[in-house]
Formats: sequence, C-alpha cells, structure tokens
Amino acid sequence: MSTPSPIAVSRRRFIQTAVAGGLTTLASASLWKTAAAMVGGPKGRLVYGAGLEDPGLVQLSINENPLGPSPHAVEAAAKKLFALNRYPAREPVLHEAIARHHGVTADMVANGVGSSEILNAITLTAIVNGGGVVEPEPGYGAISGMAEDIGRPVVRVKLTKDLQIDLDVVRKAITSDTKIVSITNPNNPTGQLLPADALRKFIDSVPENIIVCVDEAYLDFVDDEQYPSVIPLTKTKRNLFVTKTMSKAYGLGGMRIGYGIGHPSLIERVKPFYLGWLGRTIIGDAAAIAAFDDDEHVQRVRTHVRTEKEYLYTELARLGLKPVKTQTIFVIADVGRDTKPLVDQLEARKILIRRAFGMPNFIRVSVGTHRENEVFLEVLKEVLNAKTGA
Ligand SMILES: Cc1ncc(COP(=O)(O)O)c(C=O)c1O
Repeated sequence: MSTPSPIAVSRRRFIQTAVAGGLTTLASASLWKTAAAMVGGPKGRLVYGAGLEDPGLVQLSINENPLGPSPHAVEAAAKKLFALNRYPAREPVLHEAIARHHGVTADMVANGVGSSEILNAITLTAIVNGGGVVEPEPGYGAISGMAEDIGRPVVRVKLTKDLQIDLDVVRKAITSDTKIVSITNPNNPTGQLLPADALRKFIDSVPENIIVCVDEAYLDFVDDEQYPSVIPLTKTKRNLFVTKTMSKAYGLGGMRIGYGIGHPSLIERVKPFYLGWLGRTIIGDAAAIAAFDDDEHVQRVRTHVRTEKEYLYTELARLGLKPVKTQTIFVIADVGRDTKPLVDQLEARKILIRRAFGMPNFIRVSVGTHRENEVFLEVLKEVLNAKTGA
C-alpha cells in the first residue's frame, strides 16, 4: 500500500494515532508532515506554510520559523493536552532547563511571555523612577518604544552608512540621565552583527548603574557558529541583561516563550515587572524543555535558513534589487525607492513582506520554506515587471 499523501490523512486518524497511540510516532517524518499539512488548512487546499488560517497566504513578514518546532516539542506539548485544567508547575522546571542550556544557574533566569514581556520588564526596571534609554536606530525598538509610552526620554543613535552600530557613538550618547542601553545583536531590521570583542569592551565601558540589555533573538543564525553569546559575562557584570526567545530558532512563536538572563541581583530587581510562573503555560514549558534537547532540529533550521538566504540573495539581485547579507532569519534588499507601493502590491497578491522599519527604501523578507520563497520571487517579478509604480 502506498503512503497516503499528507493532506489526505484525516484529522480523526491523526488524533487517533498521535494521542491515543501514545504519541511515540509523531516524530516520524510522515506523521510530522501530516500534522503540518493539517494545521496548514483544510483538506485538498493549497498549503504554503503550515499553521496559517489562510493556507494560500505566503507569510514572510514576521520572522517565523519556516520549519516549525522540533517534532519532539510537539509531542511533549500534545501529551499535556489533557492536563489543561492544571496550572503550570510552581517549581522552576523551565528555568532549570534554560539555565542548563546556557551554563548558568536558575536564579539567573527570568521567564517571559515571549521575550517581548521580558524586554518590557527590563525597561521598567531601569526607568520606573525616571531616566531614559539609548538605542541605535534603525533597531528593534521594543525598549525605546516602551520608554516613550511612559513618557521617558529616548536618545536614538544613527547607524553608519553601511548599516552598522557604531558602539563608540552609542557610548558617547550616554548621559547622566541614561538608565538603560539597548543593543540588538544581530540587529533587526538590518541583520548585521557586531564584532564580539567590540561588544565585550562596550559592555565593560558602561557604568554599573546603567543596564545594558543585549537582545540575542537571532544569535542562532549567525554564520560563524563559534560567535559567542554575551551570557557568560552576566555572571560577573551586574548590569548586563541578555534576552533570548524560543520564537525563532526553536519555532515556538505561538507558544510565547522568552527569557532574560542576568546576575541574580539583577533578576531580583526585574521580578516585580514580569508575570513569572503565571506567565508560563504547561504546554509551553513542556515544548520548550523538549526543544532544548533537540539540537538536530535547530541545526536543520540553521542549514535551511542559510541555503534559502543564498537563493534569495541571488534571485533578488537578478531582479535588479540590492540584497544585503544578514546574520538572521530574514534578508533585506535595497529597492532604490520607497518600498511602500511594492509591499502593498505584494500584499494584494497574498504575499506578506515588510518595509524594513526606519529604512524606507529596503524590504525585509523572512526566510520561508523553499516553495514560499519561490512564490514570493515569482510574484515579485510580476509586480516589478508590471511597472505599476511599485
Ligand atoms: C529582535 C527581536 N527581539 C525580540 C522579539 C520578540 O520576540 P518574542 O516576543 O516572540 O520572543 C523579536 C520578534 O520578532 C525580535 O525581532
């Protein structure tokens, strides 16, 4: 008998096999494909990326992981489906797994509803009693955005012409009013990485009463796999806070799991500003813990992203755009004019990408599955050839 195509397998059969059958088979390739096709949309319909309500959409605007999470994380989460009446364990099981993964102690970990909650928490820790933020621009902007929301001053430090953060200029922008400096490395939306030595020296140069927050959301995607995280420095630097997310390399964006790592004395200061154990879920804890144990999956994701970025760089250049090499899960390209019309016309054709924020002539495109990337390029070509002002 031939294997049924993923889309032809019924939801009932999937649930019977996966849940009643003890879930041991979900990690096998065919069932995982089946699951991906099922969550991608109704039977028999065209599916690009798994998990979208509209299976015809090509969603490349929010830097999701195109391969999804580790099948082991899905299995671990599915096993908790009949325990949804239970609150998450009060015990720091997730913290311990995070701590083990990074070689720190559990009292150096703050868990968040995505790293977004943790970025808010560190901002409030720093500026609740006054003072402001220094942040390079264009940058992710979570910390400066939060500061502005509560009426605190923000100093934005322009990038160099080749889109790099100049740490000397950032250092000089620090004043007696500064309470937190935000560095995203690699940066979003530029995708550029700081030299490791320069970043270490910068961290050392900031006075201890000012928090340095280094957001490493995309560090798993840097080309040089030996490039170091700054997490080990948190053991001695009481003002260093490093944020990480399970949403990118681990493909758990929908579970909302992120964390911050800092010296235990800094974690104590951050505690009043985040939910803690009530911000966790039993499914998220199980998925995250299993995901940390599946290095192979992360490696698969990295290889996919690298290969597909090369494809995107080549094809974007062939279409007359100027792609810039990145160290992240997205690429950017200079279109040579304001990209809003182009982004809008792609959206009208169900291709979602975005203008790189703060860089109006650049598009930012998340790496999708190979088919998603192909469809994006096909439609981009059509739109560019149509000469409709895009
Ligand atoms: C640089 C950076 N930091 C943090 C986040 C927030 O991610 P999450 O809240 O899913 O952990 C994102 C999301 O895209 C990001 O690009």
